[in-house]
Formats: sequence, structure tokens, C-alpha cells
Amino acid sequence: MSVENGDELELELFDSKLLQEIDFAKSPVSFPNGISITNPGESLVMRSLKISDFDKGYIQLLSQLTDTSNTTKEMFLERFHAMKNCKDTYYATVIEDTSTNQIIAGATLEIEQKFIRQCAIRGRIEEVVVLEEYRGKQLGKLLLSTLTLLSQKLGCYKLSLECAEDNIPFYQKFGFKPHTECYMVLRFRPK
Ligand SMILES: CC(C)(COP(=O)(O)OP(=O)(O)OC[C@H]1O[C@@H](n2cnc3c(N)ncnc32)[C@H](O)[C@@H]1OP(=O)(O)O)[C@@H](O)C(=O)NCCC(=O)NCCS
Repeated sequence: MSVENGDELELELFDSKLLQEIDFAKSPVSFPNGISITNPGESLVMRSLKISDFDKGYIQLLSQLTDTSNTTKEMFLERFHAMKNCKDTYYATVIEDTSTNQIIAGATLEIEQKFIRQCAIRGRIEEVVVLEEYRGKQLGKLLLSTLTLLSQKLGCYKLSLECAEDNIPFYQKFGFKPHTECYMVLRFRPK
């Protein structure tokens, strides 16, 4: 799949207007530095993932979380379009530093549709990562707060995530609790 023009580069995975419409006053946590969805900090913008973010370091950002080796632009484009075609499912949210045109933080809300609970929907938080040099500025907290509010706005009956034990205190700030049921995994490839 090739990128034809500037319009395609600006294609969003989901409509960023959804983020601006969130009532941030309902945030489960407070921000001593006064940042918010519409004002994440000087030269910073929070929005949906775009196609152009491949060239703005989105994959390099994810590499601070896990293996992203050998991800070509073609692979990224194919996955972007596949996700976009799953309407109302993938909310990959990023923060761009517009002074350097670099994606410096991101987190994704994924929606699963169910037959249970009167055909309810549930959310999962995935790929939460802030670029090393931008950590400690409340940006991880801002992303989590935003996606927690977004999942509620979309009507999820629950929201879950998997994390390392070290990160439990970070997620507890938003009301997440370690679950008593255990999480099972079968790996077909090494970590
Ligand atoms: C975890 C991570 C996303 C936090 O992002 P960040 O922008 O550095 O964190 P923030 O500045 O928003 O921190 C907000 C608060 O959480 C606390 N915090 C940050 N990381 C924490 C952690 N790992 N454990 C406990 N508390 C943490 C901060 O002290 C701060 O506390 P405050 O509200 O009292 O000020 C970031 O460190 C990161 O990208 N780590 C590597 C990838 C990773 O582990 N991702 C999570 C995968 S499950």
C-alpha cells in the first residue's frame, strides 16, 4: 500500500474531536501542573494516531515498550487501515511535540463487543508509553485519564489492562485494582 498524497498522511485512526468533547473535569486524578487534554503542555498536542506518525517516530516510541524491529512503512500502513476499518474499535492516542514533529507519548484504548450483559462493550488499555526524556511530566497520567474517560463516554461496562508489578501503583491512581482472577497466557513466539 502506498501513500499518495498529503491528505492521506493526515488521515486519523479515529476522530480526534472525540477527545476534545471529553469532560475533563471528571478526570479521576488531578494535574498539579495544570495540563489537560486540550492543553498537554507547551508545543504539545494530544490527538488520534495519524498515518504521518510513522515518520514522526511512533514506532520508535513503541520500541521503548517492546519489540518493534523490522516494522516497515508498508506494514504500518496495512495495519493502520485494517484497524480503521474496524469501526469504533481502536483509539490509538498520541501526544506530539510540534516543536520537533515527534510523537513523544501514546496509549491505546481497544473496544471489544460482547453478547453478554445485553450486548455490552468493554475496553482494554494497551501500549502505554512515554518517551524517556518526557517522563515525569504527568503525560502518562494525562493519557490514562483521557482513555479512562473516553471508555466511559463510549459506554464500556469495564476497562482492564495488563502491567508489570512495578507499574501497579501508577494504575491504582485511576481506580484500577489488581484482579483476584489470574491472567493466563500462551506464547507462540519468544517475548
Ligand atoms: C509508566 C509510564 C507510562 C508513566 O509515564 P510518565 O509520564 O513518566 O508518568 P507521569 O509523569 O504521568 O506520572 C504520574 C504519576 O505516576 C507516578 N508514576 C509514574 N510512573 C510510575 C510507576 N511506574 N509506578 C508508580 N508510580 C508511577 C508519578 O510519580 C506521578 O505521581 P504523582 O501523580 O503523584 O505526581 C512511563 O514511565 C513509561 O513509559 N514507562 C515505560 C513503558 C511502560 O512501562 N509502560 C507501561 C506498560 S503497562
